[in-house]
Order: sequence, then C-alpha cells, then structure tokens
Amino acid sequence: VIDISKLYGQTGHFTYDPGFTSTAACESRITYIDGDEGILLHRGYPIEQLAEQGDFLETCYLLLYGELPTAAEKADFDYRVTRHTMLHEQMNRFFSGFRRDAHPMAVMVGVVGALAAFYHDSTDISDPHQRMVASLRMVAKMPTIAAMAYKYSIGQPFVYPDNNLDYAANFLKMCFSVPCEEYKPNPIFAKAMDRIFILHADHEQNASTSTVRLAGSSGANPFACIAAGVACLWGPAHGGANEAALNMLEQIGTPDRIPEFVARAKDKNDPFRLMGFGHRVYKNYDPRARIMQKTTHEVLGQLGLSNDPLLQVALELEKVALSDEYFVEKKLYPNIDFYSGITLRALGFPTTMFTVLFAVARTVGWIAQWKEMIEDPSQRIGRPRQLYTGAPQREYVAITDRV
Ligand code: ACO
Repeated sequence: VIDISKLYGQTGHFTYDPGFTSTAACESRITYIDGDEGILLHRGYPIEQLAEQGDFLETCYLLLYGELPTAAEKADFDYRVTRHTMLHEQMNRFFSGFRRDAHPMAVMVGVVGALAAFYHDSTDISDPHQRMVASLRMVAKMPTIAAMAYKYSIGQPFVYPDNNLDYAANFLKMCFSVPCEEYKPNPIFAKAMDRIFILHADHEQNASTSTVRLAGSSGANPFACIAAGVACLWGPAHGGANEAALNMLEQIGTPDRIPEFVARAKDKNDPFRLMGFGHRVYKNYDPRARIMQKTTHEVLGQLGLSNDPLLQVALELEKVALSDEYFVEKKLYPNIDFYSGITLRALGFPTTMFTVLFAVARTVGWIAQWKEMIEDPSQRIGRPRQLYTGAPQREYVAITDRV
C-alpha cells in the first residue's frame, strides 16, 4: 500500500492531467486561440489580417515587442535582423560532419544547439540587451541554417545570404540558387513563403513551445532552448505532420482510394490517422488552414498546376471527411499541415524539408515566449509532478540471492 501523501512529498491539491489538456503552466500576453470559434490572434491582431496585409518580419516585431512597428521601427528592425543572417564561418565545417542522407531535422537539432558554442555573448540571459541580440540572431540565422542543411543534403555549395532581398526571398535564393547563375525569386512564391512563415510564427503553448519554456525555466541559454524546441517539433503528431500529410496524399494517390483511407482512419484497430486532420485546441476549422488553402491555389495557379493530382486528392478528402459522421462528431477539421505540404512541394522543397521550414517560422514564437518567461518576475523552474504507480519501498537483495 502506497501512502500517497508521502509520495507527493507535501500536502495540498495535485492535478493529474496527462497531455495537459486543462492545465495552464504560464500566463502569456502573446497569442490567443479560441478553438471553438476558430480564432487566432497575435497580440490581439487576427491572423487573417497579419497574413493578408503584413509581412513576416512585421509579425516577428509584433511577437517580440508587443506592438506593430511604425515604418521607422520596421526599417530599423529589418536592418538589425539582416545584420545577423550570416553564420560563423567555422559552422560550415559542422555541417560536413553529418552524413549527407541525414534527415535535415537531425542536422537542425545539432547545428542550432551548437550556436551557443559560437555566440557566447548571447548566452548571458541576465542582460536584456543580450536577450534581444540572441532573439534577433535566432530569427536571422534560422533560414541560413535551414538552407545550408538543404544544400548539404543535395551536395551543392552553400549560398550566402543576400541582404538586399526580403526575408522569404532571401531564403528561397539560399535554397534554390547556385553561385554560377543569376537568380531572381518569383514574387508570388516569395509572398507564399512569407505567408507560410507568418502562419507558423506562434501558436501559444503547443508541445514545442512548452518544451522551450521548460528548458528555459532552468536558466539554460536560448540556443539550447530553441534546439529543444526543434527536437520536439520533429514528431509526426506536431510539426512532422506536414511531411506525413503529403506522404499520405501520395499514398492515397487518386480520389477513388479515399474511402479506403477514411475507413482505416475510423478503425480503432488500425493506428492510421488522417494526417493534417484534428487539433488539440481547434474544434472548428483551423483559421490558418483556410489561408493556407488559398495560398496553395495561388502558387499552383501560377505554376499552371491547378489540376495537380495531389491537390485534387486533398480537396476531395476534405470534402469526404467533413461530411462523415466520425469526423463531424469528433470535430476533426483540416489543420495547417494539411495544405502546407502541397504548397511547399510546388515551391520545390522535398518532404524532408517541410518540418525544417516550420522550425524556421516558429523560431520567433519560441524566442518571444522564452523572453516573456525570463522577464516574468514570478518565473520558477518548471517541475511537473507525477502520479507514482511503481513498487513500494523494498529491501535490496544481493545478486547471488536473486532468483
Ligand atoms: N484521424 C482519425 N482520427 C483522429 C484523428 C485523425 N487525424 N485525430 C484525432 N482522431 C480521433 C482519435 O482517435 C480520438 O478518438 P477517440 O475519442 O474515439 O479515442 C479523438 O479523435 C481525439 O483524438 P486525440 O488524439 O485524443 O486528440 P489530441 O488532442 O490528443 O490530438 C492531434 C490532437 C495530435 C493533432 C491528433 O488530432 C492527430 O494525431 N492528428 C493527426 C496529426 C496532425 O495532423 N498533427 C498536426 C497538429 S497541428 C500542428 O502541430 C501544427
């Protein structure tokens, strides 16, 4: 018999809440979600307005500083981010230590964690100036690291940042240009990339953000915390879902096979789930998915691929699922990952890069949440409790006496 009060080590109330479905671990002023109404606000501004009318660096400023910038503040912010886009030259060698066929997310976890070894000044988290420098470095360097991971995987030389381009166009150039040829990013593709970044920028206390906060609560440096976030994001139930969703659409292949996959998703004895469907918080349409679907049409239209077979499968699958009792009852709607994969593939990215792009965009959310936590005077180390269900206290048995 276990004396539960002793195991808990103190009196008072404990909540047992696996998956944290109803436990808030912090106060935050950054992002608000109303899952029943399908509303997402950053610092009070609807995601639709930010995605349609602003650009990614403006959203970054908003998340980090709490207000939309004036024109002068925006110009200054863009300049400060741009100044940090280069990576320490010695980091090039870090990449060459990886196998070329490594998953780029594995490379990201390693390289992002290694930033602390190159930018020691920004590991002083007690200095507000250094906290902001670390934040700008993270936002600025993530596209460079991601593009290098991609170039390394395909055996091409690294392309250095072009600071005359905006954030998204520069990223496309680092990924898709080669040093021997002139490259002009397609403005529709750059706009789509920028919008994808905005849509993924923050999403309150999701698994990777909570991981960043928990890692940061011990006083760990911001680069280590973001590396922890990247690692958590990789899972197929979280950021890895965009890769999994596209793989699933390819596996379905043609609309006539949809009923077979929908039946599998409903079968409790089959672990298969419709990837890109369902969300812990949204029990109504994910507002990001709606904007993503529109962006998908724009990019495929520009490429003359409006009849893309995968898009047809996705549209039909959405229609079938949304009129199926199982999905309606469980309030399972397409999430952002359902359409983002089709767009990213059309832009030229292989599926293994999809979660990397999510990490690039989410970095600003992670770092804004990390800063908010560090600057909160009530901040304490995060230390969840447990419900112990193991053996009660017992005596050690010498190895010779064990049977
Ligand atoms: N396909 C089929 N059934 C599903 C799906 C799905 N995609 N998602 C949930 N369900 C069912 C579950 O089987 C469960 O059924 P039950 O009540 O009969 O047991 C019920 O809906 C609730 O599902 P949970 O897993 O308990 O919900 P939870 O909130 O824990 O999980 C999650 C949410 C992880 C997103 C889940 O819906 C899922 O696995 N979806 C597919 C992966 C995905 O798209 N992830 C991306 C999330 S968005 C993001 O990270 C950007």
